[in-house]
Amino acid sequence: MKKINFTDCYDEMMSYVEYDEWAKLLSSKIKKETEGINLLEIGSGTGEISIRLHDLGYVIKGIDISLEMVNISSTKYKNIEFLNESMLNLKDKSKYDAVISVFDTINYLQSLDELNIAFTNIYNSIKNNGVFIFDVLNRKMIDSMFSEGIFADERENMSIIWKHSYYEDLKLDEIETIFYVKEKDNLFRRISEKYMKMIFSNNQILEMAKNVGFHFISKEINVEIAGPRIIYAFKRVD
Ligand SMILES: C[S@@+](CC[C@H](N)C(=O)[O-])C[C@H]1O[C@@H](n2cnc3c(N)ncnc32)[C@H](O)[C@@H]1O
Repeated sequence: MKKINFTDCYDEMMSYVEYDEWAKLLSSKIKKETEGINLLEIGSGTGEISIRLHDLGYVIKGIDISLEMVNISSTKYKNIEFLNESMLNLKDKSKYDAVISVFDTINYLQSLDELNIAFTNIYNSIKNNGVFIFDVLNRKMIDSMFSEGIFADERENMSIIWKHSYYEDLKLDEIETIFYVKEKDNLFRRISEKYMKMIFSNNQILEMAKNVGFHFISKEINVEIAGPRIIYAFKRVD
C-alpha cells in the first residue's frame, strides 16, 4: 500500500480556500494590463489555480519544486503541463504574458538573495507589458495566526495542527504541519512536514521588484479568499 504523505493531504487541508474566487481575481488583474493569455504559475502545488485559469481560457504552465506536487497535479489535470522546477533555477526560457504565484509561495524563499534571484528569473520570463502577480503574508498576519504558537483545526476525517517557531538568527519562521488522518477502526495516522518561510517587509518587496526592473501596479490586502494576505501586481515595461 502507498504510504500517505503531506502532498496527499494538501487538497483536504486547503478545502476551505475559495479557489474559484482566486482565479477570477487573478484573471481580472491580468486583463487590466494585457490581452495576452500565456501564463506561468510558480508553485503550482496540486494544480487547483492552474486548472481554473485554464478553464477561464488561459494557456497555463505550472512549475513546482516538489516532484510529489507535480505528480499529483499532472495526474489530476492531464491537459496542463506541470514541470518540476524551482523559481530559483528556471530552465524554461519561454516568455509569458503573466506570471502568477499564489498562496504565499514567495514566502518559501529564504533570504533576500533568493528573492533577488527569483524576481530576476521571473522578470526575464515576462514579455514586455506582461505582469507578475503574487501574494505574501506579513509579520502581523503570521503573528495573529500563531498568537499561541500553535493552531489546531479538527475536521471529520483529519485533524490538523500547525506549530510555529521563529528563528531570530536566521530571520526565518518554521511551520510544522501535523495531520492526524482517520483510517479504519478509528485509528489515526500521523503525518508531519516542516517548512521554513521568510517574511519580507513591504519595503523589501518594493525595492527588490524595482531593482530588477519591475513597475509597481498595485498592492491590496485580501481577507476573503484564504485568510488575510497581501496581493502585489508588478509590470514589465521595456
Ligand atoms: C502553499 S503551496 C501553494 C500551492 C498552490 N499554488 C495553491 O494555491 O494551492 C506553495 C507551493 O510552492 C512550492 N514551492 C516552494 N518553493 C518553490 C520554489 N523555489 N520554486 C517553485 N515552487 C516552490 C511548494 O512545493 C508548494 O507546492
